Amino acid sequence: MSNYLLFILLLSISLSAKPLLCDPRATRAALICTNRTASSSLRRTFITNFLAAMDIVTPLIARQRYAAVVNGTGTASVYAFGECMKDLSPNDCNLCFAQCKTQVLKCLPFQLATRGGRVFYDGCYLRYDDYDFFNESLSSQDRTVCGSKDFGGNNTVFGANAIELVRNLSVQSVKNDGFFVGSVTFSKGNVSVHGLAQCWEFVNGSACENCLENAVSRIASCTQKEEGRVLNAGCYLRYSTQRFYNNSGPDPVPGNGGDNKLAVILATSAVALLLVFLLVAFFVRRKLLQRRRERKQLGALQVAVNKSKLNFSYETLEKATNYFHESNKLGQGGSGSVYKGTLPGGEAVAVKRLFYNTTQWVDHFFNEVNLISGINHKNLVKLLGCSITGPESLLVYEFVPNQSLLDNLFVRQDVEPLSWEVRYKIILSTAEGLAYLHEESKLRIIHRDIKLSNILLDEEFTAKIADFGLVRLFPEDITHISATLAGTLGYMAPEYVVRGKLTEKADVYSFGVVVIEVVWDLYVKGRLHEAVDPALAGNFQEGKPSRLLQIGLLCVQASAELRPSMSIVVKMLTGNHEILQPTQPPFLNPNGSEISSVGTPSTSNSK
Ligand SMILES: *[C@@H]1O[C@H](CO)[C@@H](O)[C@H](O)[C@H]1NC(C)=O
Ligand SMILES: *[C@@H]1O[C@H](CO)[C@@H](O)[C@H](O)[C@H]1NC(C)=O
Ligand SMILES: *[C@@H]1O[C@H](CO)[C@@H](O)[C@H](O)[C@H]1NC(C)=O
Ligand SMILES: *[C@@H]1O[C@H](CO)[C@@H](O)[C@H](O)[C@H]1NC(C)=O
Ligand SMILES: *[C@@H]1O[C@H](CO)[C@@H](O)[C@H](O)[C@H]1NC(C)=O
Ligand SMILES: *[C@@H]1O[C@H](CO)[C@@H](O)[C@H](O)[C@H]1NC(C)=O
Ligand SMILES: *[C@@H]1O[C@H](CO)[C@@H](O)[C@H](O)[C@H]1NC(C)=O
Ligand SMILES: *[C@@H]1O[C@H](CO)[C@@H](O)[C@H](O)[C@H]1NC(C)=O
Repeated sequence: MSNYLLFILLLSISLSAKPLLCDPRATRAALICTNRTASSSLRRTFITNFLAAMDIVTPLIARQRYAAVVNGTGTASVYAFGECMKDLSPNDCNLCFAQCKTQVLKCLPFQLATRGGRVFYDGCYLRYDDYDFFNESLSSQDRTVCGSKDFGGNNTVFGANAIELVRNLSVQSVKNDGFFVGSVTFSKGNVSVHGLAQCWEFVNGSACENCLENAVSRIASCTQKEEGRVLNAGCYLRYSTQRFYNNSGPDPVPGNGGDNKLAVILATSAVALLLVFLLVAFFVRRKLLQRRRERKQLGALQVAVNKSKLNFSYETLEKATNYFHESNKLGQGGSGSVYKGTLPGGEAVAVKRLFYNTTQWVDHFFNEVNLISGINHKNLVKLLGCSITGPESLLVYEFVPNQSLLDNLFVRQDVEPLSWEVRYKIILSTAEGLAYLHEESKLRIIHRDIKLSNILLDEEFTAKIADFGLVRLFPEDITHISATLAGTLGYMAPEYVVRGKLTEKADVYSFGVVVIEVVWDLYVKGRLHEAVDPALAGNFQEGKPSRLLQIGLLCVQASAELRPSMSIVVKMLTGNHEILQPTQPPFLNPNGSEISSVGTPSTSNSK
């Protein structure tokens, strides 16, 4: 019976502790770009070689946790090196590196191809340069990064212990394949300091010793703070009052003898066991709460990818799409191409292959994964998972069979024009999806790229909003954020184009443009089909489309304040709210009738 109890208790402990087991330490410690840039004649080649090197590095990291790659020849050669901290689990290593890879692109603005860059995360490291730096231990760009929080207790004692710890770690590290972690507890068991020292794979022996010695002397400048890091070309050294590393093996540094005792108690007494359980539960909870607080501070975009979403291997997806065969291509967006795939179980999915070749790509991937995995609505395309260990990053979505609204209205010649009822349903479901993003989901989310091609249609022609690559989170307490311009011109609200001012009302504007396009297309096709398709034309007489048009016009008013919120739009569409009279939209001729003035730009589109 006590065995059974033990089992249950261990099970509940391991379950409640689960979030702690997934921590890729994807906190950026520093991004350092060199100030040497490629000459304009070399730029293209250099960037091409850089991208090729990144593609080669990623699967190697997944296999062996470090990788060194050279691509290109002569002055256009790109050297790239990446490595994870040795205590990181393989999965966390992949997660950390995937984030690292997006950040290093910030060193490489296309107009200014920087010839070198390094990104230090607390769990991994990535560097590229134009020379062989693999054996380098120190460089002029090495950094010391101290934490922001002052240590509250006796600094003299704390500093002395921290320095002694990191000195011990650096000595041990050189003997121990370039890696060591440990902690020390002092002030009568009141304070602990934890540390990690690691040399990169090709920096061993005296070079490693050199590097860490230098790091120990420089980290001393941080001891007023709770945390310190030295980021050298050949090594990484960190101490912190938080236990940040994974030490599942025996802890060779004194001051942490509790684990064995815990195991003994667990095996002997069920009563003591309960006590231990309560204690563990208490600490796990405390740690969770603390972590949650830290996460909040880091900002939602830093939130690690949910582990359960990493369930696709690159090979599986390659096979599912028949090696990204042209015939499976569903479409092409700003951030990547989308392919239809069939999983081994027979389930149809859409696989988005993200281009790793534009600076705008930075953050798109994690935007999508972090955001979509946390939100769930019938009118938003569901993210099923992702793959980050192959040469390219892939996102896997539910397959939405009836293509996009753009395809149905303007591209495909083989489909019947959508009926009025279907158009109404599409507009209503799009509005519901947006209202959820803006007002009902836990986070306030602005899509930023609402347009015909991002509205997909399922079997029943219900809309599902896709492509969250440009999504921006909206901090609770800020009324608008100034954003770098993204999105599709023509759908973008004037205040966003002119001043970069981004609020939910920018999405409302884009939605309005979509509504006008959909209704106007119905009007044009209705006229064209009058003789042959009385259903389409006849319906148009009922007056409902003009109500829709009026809602569309309300949404594209020049003044953002005058545009209705999406929840009001939903109410207007369902007849639960009065439809106000729009003021002049920016492109209307004041003397013309609504239809003909709106029609002018759209007619030319639809031909
Ligand atoms: C580049 O950085 C080095 C040292 O980091 C400095 O000596 C040099 O002046 C810098 N060059 C330019 C063009 O800023
Ligand atoms: C660089 O990468 C490309 C693409 O992977 C490859 O075809 C080429 O052989 C590589 N060049 C060198 C010098 O490694
Ligand atoms: C901790 O390290 C062990 C072995 O070094 C590894 O098996 C385990 O997955 C790691 N756990 C985490 C959370 O990194
Ligand atoms: C220097 O780095 C290379 C990897 O490019 C490695 O093969 C070599 O063993 C290293 N040399 C030393 C002395 O560590
Ligand atoms: C423990 O440390 C905190 C500050 O770090 C201090 O306020 C407190 O008095 C200490 N308690 C003991 C028992 O030393
Ligand atoms: C810190 O501790 C040292 C040694 O115990 C002691 O000499 C010193 O006075 C303490 N400083 C403060 C500010 O408490
Ligand atoms: C450093 O190492 C020495 C000898 O191995 C040990 O006695 C001491 O407690 C260690 N100090 C710390 C802070 O780890
Ligand atoms: C350093 O590493 C290289 C290759 O990784 C190895 O050949 C060499 O023996 C190592 N040197 C020392 C001192 O461990």
